[in-house]
Amino acid sequence: MLKIVFTLLSVFWATTAFAQNINEATFNADGAVNAPTDWRKWVFVGTPLTPNALNGGEAAFPEFHNVYVEPSAFAHFEKTGEWANGTQIAKELVLLRSHDGCDEDTGACFEVSGQGYFQGEFAGLELTVKDTDRFSDEPGGWAYFSFGHKAEPYAETATAFPAASCNACHAASAETDFVFTQFYPVLRAAMPR
Ligand code: HEC
Repeated sequence: MLKIVFTLLSVFWATTAFAQNINEATFNADGAVNAPTDWRKWVFVGTPLTPNALNGGEAAFPEFHNVYVEPSAFAHFEKTGEWANGTQIAKELVLLRSHDGCDEDTGACFEVSGQGYFQGEFAGLELTVKDTDRFSDEPGGWAYFSFGHKAEPYAETATAFPAASCNACHAASAETDFVFTQFYPVLRAAMPR
């Protein structure tokens, strides 16, 4: 009986250790990354917003920026405060909700909770992947992708942007290894102290 219990326990330990592996992105034969399919079920960490009304009418990304971390990478970050090799982070753009009666200048709408900005339709998907082997030429091993800055359906694959387009700004201004943790309250709370 005891032996069975020990066997079950060791199977449990082995499975738990295995579960700490990072679920990595997949790539096609040409080296393009395949778009994730379930990013909306990843860990939602925050939503920066840079509306046109506050950016001279011309924000580069006037939408909400919903950011999601792949769960196994999140678990590793929670334990270590570091981004493991294989980490995937998605950023989905969501238009400001708009309808008759919303303010033309500010884009704000009045809803039952008050005057402000509410989420409308999905409008784009970006992904960053850390892989210091596959992307040994990229600063920090982080590669950056876009599946389109437009309504769904998004592209199914994407090739990495040149480092100057994306990595440089992340390297200069992001707080934790190229990731803007300073803007994600869920990650700040998860970080080990
Ligand atoms: C001028 C600076 C700047 C440049 C250039 C830039 N980003 Fe970012 N990026 C940010 C900021 C700031 C955030 C934090 C979230 C937000 O405000 O959208 C961010 C967040 C992200 C995230 C979420 C994960 C993270 O690292 O925080 C992804 C994915 C992303 N950017 C993709 C890209 C891609 C793809 C490019 C190149 C086409 C790019 N970024 C270029 C500033 C930049």
